[in-house]
Amino acid sequence: MKLQGKVAIITGAAQGIGREYALRFVEEGAAVAIVDTRLQQARDLEQEITARKGRAIAIGADVTNEAQLAAMAKQVADCFGRIDALINNAAIYYDLELGRASLEYGRKVMDVNVFGVMLASWAVFPYMERQHSGSIINIASIAAWPGAISPPPMRSARAGGITGGDLYGISKAAVIYITQSMALNFGKSNIRVNAIAPGVTMSEATRKVVAGRFIEALIGQSALGRALEPRDLAGAAVFLASDDSALMTGQCLVVDAGCKIS
Ligand SMILES: NC(=O)c1ccc[n+]([C@@H]2O[C@H](COP(=O)([O-])OP(=O)(O)OC[C@H]3O[C@@H](n4cnc5c(N)ncnc54)[C@H](O)[C@@H]3O)[C@@H](O)[C@H]2O)c1
Repeated sequence: MKLQGKVAIITGAAQGIGREYALRFVEEGAAVAIVDTRLQQARDLEQEITARKGRAIAIGADVTNEAQLAAMAKQVADCFGRIDALINNAAIYYDLELGRASLEYGRKVMDVNVFGVMLASWAVFPYMERQHSGSIINIASIAAWPGAISPPPMRSARAGGITGGDLYGISKAAVIYITQSMALNFGKSNIRVNAIAPGVTMSEATRKVVAGRFIEALIGQSALGRALEPRDLAGAAVFLASDDSALMTGQCLVVDAGCKIS
């Protein structure tokens, strides 16, 4: 077990990919905090984990709310005694207006996907600084690179200019910037900050928002010729949270079945 005795906070863990990070981290020996605005789903997962003798706590918190995040970090430290890892996984795109880009929606995406990452990281920083150790894992996306999720069929379908898909991509490019900047600033406290950029992953949200033909086009351009399932990303997160990556910081691991190779 690679995470024995470690304590991890996973935002947006009530469903989808975050849920798989939580389940895998528990299998690897970690205690997990399932942080989400979907509190009932988070509680259901907590029950599922504790029924299997794993350690978990569900906490309702919005990653755009600084006070809720501070209370969340305190609750985790009080409950489990320390905070070793934070996965900044919460983000919005399930209600993305793919074909258009309203300013209001753009602000909402930036608030959750960008400021949410910064606020949650700041909330755990005092605990990690005191321990002089920690690993922050920010979930970016291959959407951070404009060409990677815009195969020709999608490009021709665009209305032109900046679309909702671009707003999401901009937010994820900012996540990569934050990862590098925080890695530089937190390094002295022995806190590592890395990112994972997943490719198309068949979560419920993806199935809901992304048209089948778009998914097929993306799979068609991937070297391995397949989409990811949510559990396919957990190994990279375990690696970044574990001591196996002790000398890695400021990096972005692309896990996308070879969609974006460059
Ligand atoms: N699914 C994909 O194809 C894909 C590809 C690349 C990157 N990603 C990234 O992976 C992560 C997880 O994606 P997913 O497909 O599991 O999405 P999802 O929508 O299924 O899960 C996101 C979770 O975040 C929670 N959340 C949303 N806003 C929140 C807020 N303000 N505060 C707290 N929790 C909030 C939601 O309630 C939900 O449980 C996201 O960062 C997403 O951008 C997904």
